[in-house]
Amino acid sequence: MNGARILLGVCGGIAAYKAAALTSRLVQRGHVLDVILTDEAQRFIAPLTFAALTRRTVYTSLWENGAAIPHIVLARENALVAIVPATAHTIARIALGLADDLLANVALATRAPLLLAPAMNTAMLEHPATRTHLATLRERGATIVEPESGFLAEREYGAGRLADEETLVRDIERILGRMRELAGERVLITAGPTREVIDPVRFLSNASTGTTGIEIAREALARGAAVDLVLGPTQVPPPVGAELVRVTTAAEMYAAALARAPVATIAVATAAVADWRPAQAFDEKVKKSAEPQTIALKRNPDILAALGERKNGTFLVGFAAETSDVEASARLKLTHKHLDAIAVNDVSGGAGFGTGDNALALLFGTDGRIDLGRSSKRELAARFWDALAVVRGTGG
Ligand code: CTP
Repeated sequence: MNGARILLGVCGGIAAYKAAALTSRLVQRGHVLDVILTDEAQRFIAPLTFAALTRRTVYTSLWENGAAIPHIVLARENALVAIVPATAHTIARIALGLADDLLANVALATRAPLLLAPAMNTAMLEHPATRTHLATLRERGATIVEPESGFLAEREYGAGRLADEETLVRDIERILGRMRELAGERVLITAGPTREVIDPVRFLSNASTGTTGIEIAREALARGAAVDLVLGPTQVPPPVGAELVRVTTAAEMYAAALARAPVATIAVATAAVADWRPAQAFDEKVKKSAEPQTIALKRNPDILAALGERKNGTFLVGFAAETSDVEASARLKLTHKHLDAIAVNDVSGGAGFGTGDNALALLFGTDGRIDLGRSSKRELAARFWDALAVVRGTGG
């Protein structure tokens, strides 16, 4: 593969010496490395080793060159931040967002993908604190290169030995390769529910959490796209790196999506937009009365259909949640809304809502169909982009 800019962070553990061999290997493969050593790493290996291997400045402190703001420059210029070996302490610092040295600052300031290769004593690795921090980082989209079982520095066998060099090179280059898949694309995603106001304390809404759209946005970013995420009210955190537009009502989502549509090369509508809104929104809280009340409703605009009517080269993907005649109904939407593809899930029995598993199929053309299977929404987002590459004719 073509060379990439990689930031390698080295922490203080016996395995620090292996980071030098990895550096040499990555340089030979054409990559350009900026190396940061933590204070503890320098107890095991000298900056000079990495300077000689990379023929570049090796960074050890936030305070070396006041004018340069090294953490921001390093965070922006590199395509990937790899921390090898990652100690329990640095894993915890990054999971918690502590920024007490140069490496931790870069990890916090970067929007590039993060890879960590833990190496430590078995008990430290298995400690609930370490496991929780690793799970947090994974949840945020970081790649954890699992340590192996083998002979440890303590002269005993156990889990915690740094993954071997082949695995590290493969995983680093896999991330770099993935980042090129959607490079140059601008993806517009609508996600989450909308809220339609009845009065200052009441609204109509639905059970959507926006997780599917958020995971599709996260994966698009990991594949190198610029992402505009128009997100309805949800507690689920959006991915770092997306251009986020928070909206509440369908009307706001409509305006935000249509404003960004002209620059989108791909648009994916995952939002569960309320089809109706109260005809009247009351300024004051409505008092209860003895009589049964009715709420008059007005149709909301169909955002996806509007994108379809105006589309000018944008590859447009809709979602359909159906409970009966699942695929036939979705195919009708595919044509009526001028879509290039539609992802369909069977939501009978409440499946598909929330943060759990889902099952999807992607339909396109007159009878094109790619089954994405049943899996976590994160995994389905990866399969969604793989399938879309096939449909768009760029991936197979
Ligand atoms: N959609 C939209 N704006 C709306 C309604 C829906 O953008 N006002 C989008 C959704 O984001 C989704 C697709 O349209 O991509 C869903 O189509 P829709 O016709 O609303 O189907 P369902 O909600 O699945 O159900 P129904 O068959 O009842 O219309």
